[in-house]
Amino acid sequence: MQNSIIDIEKEALESIEKASDSEQLEQFSIKYLGRKGELTKFLRNISSLPEDERPSAGKNANILKTKLEKAVKAALSKIEAYDDKAFTGIDVTLPGRFVQRGSCHPITQVAKEISDIFLRLGFDIAEGPEVETDYYNFEALNIPKYHPARDMQDTFYVSENIVLRTHTSPSQPRAMEKTQPPLRIIAPGKVFRCDSDITHTPMFYQIEGLMVDQNVSFGDLKGVLTTFVHQFFDTQTSLRFRPSFFPFTEPSAEVDIRCVMCKGKGCRICSKTGWLEVLGSGMVHPAVFENVGYDTQKYTGFAFGIGIERMAMLKYGIDDIRKFYENDLRFLGQF
Ligand code: DAH
Repeated sequence: MQNSIIDIEKEALESIEKASDSEQLEQFSIKYLGRKGELTKFLRNISSLPEDERPSAGKNANILKTKLEKAVKAALSKIEAYDDKAFTGIDVTLPGRFVQRGSCHPITQVAKEISDIFLRLGFDIAEGPEVETDYYNFEALNIPKYHPARDMQDTFYVSENIVLRTHTSPSQPRAMEKTQPPLRIIAPGKVFRCDSDITHTPMFYQIEGLMVDQNVSFGDLKGVLTTFVHQFFDTQTSLRFRPSFFPFTEPSAEVDIRCVMCKGKGCRICSKTGWLEVLGSGMVHPAVFENVGYDTQKYTGFAFGIGIERMAMLKYGIDDIRKFYENDLRFLGQF
């Protein structure tokens, strides 16, 4: 009889240990401690034992009963801490949620890179509105109504005299009206034109530059823009200044760089010319100075306008401008 109680104890403790959920434990309790359970049966049968064995058998069985009840309780609380069905709090064993990391848009990165170069050269950042008056966008820049130059910058009219600005150049008269020379500013921002193909989007970014002081010469313009190109691409990149026309500069020049793809041999990107146009520039037209009340006898200046997407496309070898604005994370996440 003593043996059988030792067997019950061994067997019972082993199965408690093995129980992996509250249901198994419950079954186990029934098997040993329930009304028809092994231990209960044993207690009931004590009366059939020889008289001298009864007291110790009864005592041992009761001790085991308490021991098993305690073991079940302990096992249950351990199981509940992990058991989904019984536990409603945080399950620390679940894998964490993946948080996708964002990245800075390539145009924002390139705009910052360009701005940093000019900030190091002593330029300050100026800003102008994206919804602009006809006056600042055109008139103040020596582009009167019906001037053919307006054709190249066909835009979105909000009303007869309010447009979405077609270039960042209106930042020039705005800055000059506020500040007397010397003046060195850049103005990055969005511009808009009725244009859409692989090299044009209706909205794109430019950075305007303007420097005004006494004795500012075309040599200064060349020096500043050469430094810029060398810092943005590399010092081996040669550039050329090609005569051009803008109503707000005289003389005007477009700046070309040696094709970054073929290094001047001629390829599809540079239309076999070996050169790529990167920006417009020139000496500020006296009419613009007059419009803002600057003394044209005392001051001269130069200005330039850079297309940010174009710089980004050349730097990273991107052949379609629209990729910047399709919000495809596989493309944007590479920068
Ligand atoms: N605003 C011109 C454009 O969008 C670019 C430009 C050319 C800006 C010459 C200038 C400049 O400041 O001097 O086509």
